[in-house]
Order: sequence, then C-alpha cells, then structure tokens
Amino acid sequence: MRIEGSVALVTGASRGIGRELVGALIAAGAKRVYAGARKPGTVDTHGGRVIPLELDITNERHLERVADAAPDVNLLLNNAGVFSAFNLLSTTREALEREFATNFYGTLATTRAMLPVIERAGGGAIANVLTVASLASMPPLGGYSATKAAAWSLTQALRGELKRRNIAVHAVFPGPVDTDMTRELTLPKTHPAEVARAVVRGIAAGEEDILPDPMSRHVFEQWLRDPKGVEQQFASM
Ligand SMILES: NC(=O)c1ccc[n+]([C@@H]2O[C@H](COP(=O)([O-])OP(=O)(O)OC[C@H]3O[C@@H](n4cnc5c(N)ncnc54)[C@H](OP(=O)(O)O)[C@@H]3O)[C@@H](O)[C@H]2O)c1
Repeated sequence: MRIEGSVALVTGASRGIGRELVGALIAAGAKRVYAGARKPGTVDTHGGRVIPLELDITNERHLERVADAAPDVNLLLNNAGVFSAFNLLSTTREALEREFATNFYGTLATTRAMLPVIERAGGGAIANVLTVASLASMPPLGGYSATKAAAWSLTQALRGELKRRNIAVHAVFPGPVDTDMTRELTLPKTHPAEVARAVVRGIAAGEEDILPDPMSRHVFEQWLRDPKGVEQQFASM
C-alpha cells in the first residue's frame, strides 16, 4: 500500500510504539493521521497533520463514534494493548478478562467499526500489532500470550475475508521493545522508533507478516522451520 497520501488511524497513540507509529507515518508522507488515545491531550499533533481522537478501544460509546470522527481512513493500525496477565495458574480471572477485552475484543471491535470507512475509501490496509509470544506461549506471560495468540487467529481470519474486499491485513510480531510495557524486563530491547519505521516499511512493501526487529526475524524464521522447537524453547523460559 502507498503510505504517501494515505489517511491512518493508530490506536494506543499516547506513548510507546503507537506514538512512534504516528511519527513514522507522518515522516513517510501520510496525509493525515488520527491518533487514538484514552487521553488525547497527550498526543503530539505534528503541526496539524495529526488529529487526536479520544478512543478507548474497550469503550462502546467511543467505538460508536470513531467512524464519524475519522471518516477518510484507509489504513488502520491496531496497536493499543496491555500486558498485565502473567502466569495462567496464578493470574486473576479479572486481569485475564481485562487483557482479552483490550488485546482481542478491542482490536476486533475497532476493526469492525472502521471497516465501512476503509471500504468507502476503496480499500486499504489493517495492521495488528501482535508479538512473537503470539506464535508460542511463554509460561511467565501465559495470559498475555493467550490474548495475543487469539489476536493472531483473528488476523488470519480477517486476511481471508478482506482480501476480496481490497483490504490487506498485516500481522506485526515484535520481540522486546523499549517502552513502558517492558520497563521491568532486563533483556535486549529494540527502540520503538525503529520498530515503527519497520512497520511502515512492511505495510508499504505489502509484507503480510512484519518482523520489525532482529529477534522477531530470528524467531519467525525458526518457527517456520520448526514450530515445535519454538514451543519447547519458549516453554522453558
Ligand atoms: N513493548 C514490547 O516489548 C512489545 C512487544 C511486542 C508487542 N508489543 C505490543 O505493542 C503494542 C504497543 O505496546 P507498547 O510497548 O507501546 O506499550 P505501552 O508503552 O505500554 O503503550 C500501550 C499503549 O496502548 C494504549 N492502551 C492500552 N489500553 C488501551 C485501551 N483500552 N484503549 C486505547 N488504548 C489503550 C495505552 O494508552 P494509555 O497511555 O492511555 O495507557 C498506550 O498508548 C501492544 O499491543 C503490545 O502488546 C509490545
């Protein structure tokens, strides 16, 4: 898809990868970017090309009005996500439900709300920000992995259905990225701006599966060859 002249909506644009996605889209020539955020006042407007939009992807009232508020979008980046459900045997049901509400149902609801807009624009693209932990579960992040595996399945389902409607559906599989989400983790992390640039490049190049950092490329290549091996490696973490 051509990024130059496109009109995008990025969810979770207040910080982290989402904020960098907005900047990368503007740098790549997007005409306008709607920056969905729970607190839209925190969004950088890049001299007027970015329009802050109040959007909690679990809030039905916000979802009902998003299509009217962003009526010319042809590129949707489902980036908003939470990471709070850890080990599946000890995490609370409430934490798990909260995480599914955002990472799975929120992604689906935003997509449903924006589909008529993208179709009206003549087609376009949707990119869902998943994680390498969508491909196989890491027990210490078992809850998060489950929500992101469900979001990967949703991405695959939409791909088949939306191809006929001229809408490309991309999956993004980052490894660890240096944002608030991973503040507690001490391991090598990629800068979110680098991830954002790779996502925009991947969408422009029509890559179905976007691998925006060295770890994601390594894991994905291994997973294609030996999914059981990746499952076993992640299970031992
Ligand atoms: N960091 C990593 O290592 C990593 C790796 C792989 C994948 N990811 C994925 O990348 C995406 C972005 O994560 P990040 O690292 O940038 O995390 P982050 O810095 O914690 O930012 C999360 C973003 O999501 C927003 N958000 C959370 N719940 C929301 C909701 N219900 N409605 C709207 N926005 C909501 C947050 O908004 P507020 O500011 O209002 O809280 C924030 O803008 C997530 O989907 C995450 O799972 C991250």
